[in-house]
Amino acid sequence: MKSPWIQSLRSVALTVPDLSAAETFYTQVWQLEVAARGDGVLYLRGSGTDHHLLALHQQAGEPQLRQVTLRARSAESLQAIAAATLQAGGQVEHDEAPATDPAGGRRLIVRDGHGRRYEVVHGDTLRTPTDPTPADQPQRLAHAVLNSHDVAATQAFLEQVLGFVLADRTRIMAFMNCDADHHSIALGDSDNDALNHVAFLMPSLDAVMRGGGRMKDAGHAIEWGPGRHGPGDNAFNYFIDPFGIVIEYTAEVEQIDHTYRPGQPSDWTWPPGRVDQWGISAPPSARLKTAQRAVVFASHL
Ligand SMILES: [Fe+2]
Repeated sequence: MKSPWIQSLRSVALTVPDLSAAETFYTQVWQLEVAARGDGVLYLRGSGTDHHLLALHQQAGEPQLRQVTLRARSAESLQAIAAATLQAGGQVEHDEAPATDPAGGRRLIVRDGHGRRYEVVHGDTLRTPTDPTPADQPQRLAHAVLNSHDVAATQAFLEQVLGFVLADRTRIMAFMNCDADHHSIALGDSDNDALNHVAFLMPSLDAVMRGGGRMKDAGHAIEWGPGRHGPGDNAFNYFIDPFGIVIEYTAEVEQIDHTYRPGQPSDWTWPPGRVDQWGISAPPSARLKTAQRAVVFASHL
């Protein structure tokens, strides 16, 4: 399915307490590159067309999620989304205006009823993909997973305001689709509204595996993986960054179209002791589960 309004997940903005340490980790280990620098903010890109995938803002204390940035299909989408936000009980925090980051274009910022902050951009700068594709560099974001204490309400906002479609529902997750990727946002059933994790698309399964070794060498254990998910069929390795943010290398995400039939929880069950297709990894670590509920949306910016 295609959302009539949203083309893709572009980037995620977070706060971290040490931009210098963040630059070292995200360039030397995670393999992103510096796209731009601002006053107290660092923009990091992959090898694909997006100007940046991460905007990291210097802020003392625990990391917080500032916003999830989505790219609109058209200039008209922004006004449609603003109107739908109000109808759905959300808040238009910033009316359509020129973007304030170096990717440019125009942007709208809305919050859902729980305070999740979505930036929608159109006309932002696209770069020429690095050629040849670097073998071990993320190409783009694959998905962001947001916890919700009320997934039905969060899902309804994504459907009614942003045009997402449910791809699959499991016992613990709602996978939300806006284009060919099986999911660009997923919602995790939880008792909080934290950032669960951000996934970076790697060019190959080998890159996901080599990334596991590179992270391990740098002192960041694989907290879950390697494995292959059920919904989305993507291979994964999960880690915790130096600040407590959960990040994933993934590859081979299933590509779907309007013929895809959403599965229900009863369609997505595992045999006892299994939580992925391969069954070679230990289950998610306790550290990972704790980190997956620790990064909350910044309430004031
Ligand atoms: Fe994921």
